[in-house]
Amino acid sequence: LMIRRPPRSTLDRSSAASDVYKRQQYRYLDLRRDPVRANLELRHRLAQQIRNYLSDASFLEVETPVLIKSTPEGARDFVVPSRMNPGQWYALPQSPQTFKQLLMVSGFDRYFQIVKCFRDEDLRADRQPEFTQIDCEMSFVEREDILQTFEGLAKHLFSAVKGVEFEAFPRMTYADAMRLYGCDKPDIRFDMQFVELKSPESAVDLISGKDFVVFDSVDSVVGICAKGAGSYTRKQLDGLTDFVKRPQIGAKGLVWCRIEADGSAKSSVDKFYDAEALSAWKEAFGAEPGDLILLLAGELHKTRKQLNELRLLMGSELGLRDPFNYKPLWVLDFPLLEHDEESGRWHAMHHPFTSPLPQDIELMHSDPGAVRADAYDLVINGVEVGGGSIRIFDRPLQSRMFDLLGFSKEEAQAQFGFLMNAFEYGAPPHGGLAFGFDRLCSLFGGSESIRDYIAFPKNNSGRDVMIDAPSAIDAKQLKELGF
Ligand code: AMO
Repeated sequence: LMIRRPPRSTLDRSSAASDVYKRQQYRYLDLRRDPVRANLELRHRLAQQIRNYLSDASFLEVETPVLIKSTPEGARDFVVPSRMNPGQWYALPQSPQTFKQLLMVSGFDRYFQIVKCFRDEDLRADRQPEFTQIDCEMSFVEREDILQTFEGLAKHLFSAVKGVEFEAFPRMTYADAMRLYGCDKPDIRFDMQFVELKSPESAVDLISGKDFVVFDSVDSVVGICAKGAGSYTRKQLDGLTDFVKRPQIGAKGLVWCRIEADGSAKSSVDKFYDAEALSAWKEAFGAEPGDLILLLAGELHKTRKQLNELRLLMGSELGLRDPFNYKPLWVLDFPLLEHDEESGRWHAMHHPFTSPLPQDIELMHSDPGAVRADAYDLVINGVEVGGGSIRIFDRPLQSRMFDLLGFSKEEAQAQFGFLMNAFEYGAPPHGGLAFGFDRLCSLFGGSESIRDYIAFPKNNSGRDVMIDAPSAIDAKQLKELGF
């Protein structure tokens, strides 16, 4: 078989960016390369194992429609005009969430679907506008049943496809993940947990009263101890400071403290903190000779977010993030709601069908922000691979939820009446989750970009440069659609 090479000019490497562009434009040729083909073969093997495992566990694959009404998963919808219903629009599903819940009402107790989902959101290495979920739902279950079932699926995939075996996956609450890692998807391939030297959430304060105005004027000082990074040069330390001061991260500065071979400490704020004070820091971090303590200061929540970025950078710099060293983690008990400062409204953190933890239902009116959801994410190596929840399955609680989210009775009925009406016919207790299939493939393949595992992906502006989409449509088509 003769496979014609593309003209030399199309493969010339003028610059990295145009090289990437050419590979996208000639994707069908790129797909001839063995490593690219191997990625799609991996994707196929995973899909096959998923179907086997779930079918053996009595799950039924059911297809749900693609032309639907908006599903509230938090992103923007892609919409499609209806020629037969002028002025009206379908939305493409952000997920089959409402349909799978309706299937539970219909008595399909175990559903799954490997399904395309569409979200009009800003794109990144791990986000595509159309992506694939392994979407699952089960009836007559509690959270534990769901965690066990899908931990079983994940273990099966690792075992069958990678030959990697696991003990029980560790679990952590959202509150602990934020406190110890400053993020809801901690990368636990390495420790480097946060230590608070000053915080509104604890009585400890190893900082204030030493005339260091920067630290005195903030509510929190939080840090990490990077094992073995005490040998960082001045230039490297300046590099870390520049990193945290970048606008995307937004820290005002970075304080470091190095533990010398003799156990003494040397810091960038020696002027304010004497040996005794630094020794208290050292103890709080359990730091040893050769270690480097890095501290950020500011408002607690923001400081945690910034320190999360610094922790991940240090993990990478110290070679602690081997892509093939898999460390799964369940993160549990997410908040039910988040407050949107701009609109002053509450939003569902997962989606509006997520059940609050029973013991927190009472707080729904008195302190909505404190209500925890019966929601969980599976995180592997710092990647949110999947997420789900136990659902609300009775109408009064669901309408209370819509009240909280600021929907009038009429709006709730117009948008979600079909689901709430269905509950009137008897809905079993149910719950489920969805894995991001593309993310799972890229994890198994050891790459950060999901694009490598999609045959014809979109670029960062949501374009398919090979077929040149999106593009204008002709006047006749527009007219038929009533424009
Ligand atoms: P969620 O919105 O958490 O939950 O999505 C589930 C998983 O899908 C993946 N994912 C994506 N992958 C690639 N590109 C994207 N743009 C993208 N967005 C999400 C993530 C994520 O964990 N209906 C619920 C699930 C449920 O409650 O059962 C849902 O869609 O890996």
